[in-house]
Amino acid sequence: MTDGLLEAALEARQNAHAPYSHFRVGAALEDSAGRIHTGCNIENATYGLTLCAERVAVFKAISEGVRAFRRIAIAADTDALTPPCGACRQILWEFCGDLEILLVNPRGQTESHRLKDLFPRPFDASLL
Ligand code: THU
Repeated sequence: MTDGLLEAALEARQNAHAPYSHFRVGAALEDSAGRIHTGCNIENATYGLTLCAERVAVFKAISEGVRAFRRIAIAADTDALTPPCGACRQILWEFCGDLEILLVNPRGQTESHRLKDLFPRPFDASLL
């Protein structure tokens, strides 16, 4: 695998705190300067307070003042490629617009999607 963003997502997965689902996810968000912001899923005993890997990566970047993004890579442990959940699609749209979304599994298989295709009729500030 030659794309460092894919490697970063697979590596971030190792930090997942997923004692309830045992489903580890890593995300790596590339900003417009080429820097990579990683995230992993962080579960909670209440279940409902769980944070997905994608949102952790986005919020880390936003909290550091970064506002322009190119791509995100998402990695889970399973052979089936894992797309972002609905809540993460909404957050990705808010902060990243029509982002390129790369899915990768531990065998190095990948898919590329545009957020617009996964989230075709978003609610956003243009409707307020
Ligand atoms: N999860 C993510 O981190 N990202 C996704 O896109 C799908 C789901 C996490 C949340 C939870 O910790 C576990 O995967 C099972 O749903």
